[in-house]
Formats: sequence, C-alpha cells, structure tokens
Amino acid sequence: MAMPIAVLVSGGGSNLQSIIDRIEAGMLDAEIKVVVSNREDAYGLTRARNHRIPTRVLLHTEFPSREAFDEELVRAIRESGVHESGAVVMAGFMRIVTPVFLEPFRGRVVNIHPALLPSFPGVRGQADAADYGVKISGCTVHFVDEQMDHGPVIIQAAVPCQPGEGGDALGARILKLEHRVLPQALQWLAEGRLEQRGRFVHLKPASRNLAMQPSAGVDTDTQALVWPPLEDGF
Ligand code: GRF
Repeated sequence: MAMPIAVLVSGGGSNLQSIIDRIEAGMLDAEIKVVVSNREDAYGLTRARNHRIPTRVLLHTEFPSREAFDEELVRAIRESGVHESGAVVMAGFMRIVTPVFLEPFRGRVVNIHPALLPSFPGVRGQADAADYGVKISGCTVHFVDEQMDHGPVIIQAAVPCQPGEGGDALGARILKLEHRVLPQALQWLAEGRLEQRGRFVHLKPASRNLAMQPSAGVDTDTQALVWPPLEDGF
C-alpha cells in the first residue's frame, strides 16, 4: 500500500512538486492525502489543486498560541487519512512546531533544509552559507524533533560553492538537489528502510535488487556528493 503523506508548505512548493512528480512517475510509493499551508497565497496550494490533491489552509495568525495551531494541524492531517504509519513532510513550511504536533507523528515527520546541518540552520540557510564564504554547502533531509533544523539526518547532498556566488545562485543549485534527495528519503521511509538509533539513521539494504546510480554518491552533472547515494529513479 502506498504510504499516506501530508505535505506542509508555506511558499512556492517546488519540493512538493518534486514529490508529486516522483509519485506520478511511479518511483515514490506514496499518496499525498492533503497539502496544508499556513499561508493562503502559497503557490504550493495551486500546485496541489492542479493535481487534484485536497488542500487545507490554516492561518497561524488566527490561533492564540503555537500549541493551538498545532492541535488544529494534527486534526487536519488525521482527518485526511494520515495516521501513525504515514508521514508528514515539511517542504518549505516556515513554522516552528511544538510537541503537540510532533507527539502523534513521532519519527514520521521529515524536513528539508537548504544547508549542511548543523551549519546554517534557520530561514536563510543558503544566504548565510554564501555570506560566510564557505566552499561547500548543500542540503539536508532530517527527521524533525523539538529543536529547529536539528533532528536525526537521513541524507545530505554537498555542492561546491562558486567564487562570488551569492545566496540566490547557490540556493538555486541546492534546490535542484533538494528535489532529488527529498523524494528519495521518502521512498526509503515508505519501504521501511530507515531505522532511527538516537541521533543516527541507519539505511537498511533494499529487499529488491536496486541499482545505485553510477559513480556512487557523486553526481557528475552537479558535482554533488550525495550520501547515502541516490538510487535509481532519483
Ligand atoms: C527550500 O529551499 C527548502 O529547503 C526550504 O524552503 C525552500 C522551499 O522551497 N525549507 P519550495 O517552497 O519547496 O519551492
């Protein structure tokens, strides 16, 4: 059975689109039951509607506390048919979540961050990395815990930074990789291959015969090092 997922967005939703595309291509064994946004103008909602995916808007400004908002978020996700065996994906969801949200879905909430954590957490990950002058940056998919951009790491992709490159250009290159590592991480979750041991996420071998991409881990187009390596289709 396809893994039921809820996707949370606040903006453009290109990561949501990457999930939709991989599902429609038959590479990701998941079904998006609902897309929830805390902003009614989020383009991610339009992307969902274009694919006839149910949407919900929950305006955080209308709730008296983070906990009250999270309670409603949990209700919306459960009503859509996503329960403990499903997953919740924070795909550009610009909210700090509380235990009220995390407890019901513990170990099943995944976030994508546009930097190599633990460096450059927060909303300006790409720009902060570029401004700092790092030589390598990238993106991280991780399980979500109570602290922002902090939970156990599932997969990371590292890219060389180009001289003089600003946050926007670096962010655009990183975003292309986000669109590959996030669906891959979700497919591992759907296959039951991710085992959490404290901070460590162990990737179990595939039960079927799966080819790793050639040049294991190093993507020749983008010069990115991706680890664990992407598998066929991602
Ligand atoms: C991505 O860079 C993601 O890593 C960050 O917010 C951005 C969202 O982009 N958390 P999009 O809405 O998926 O296009």
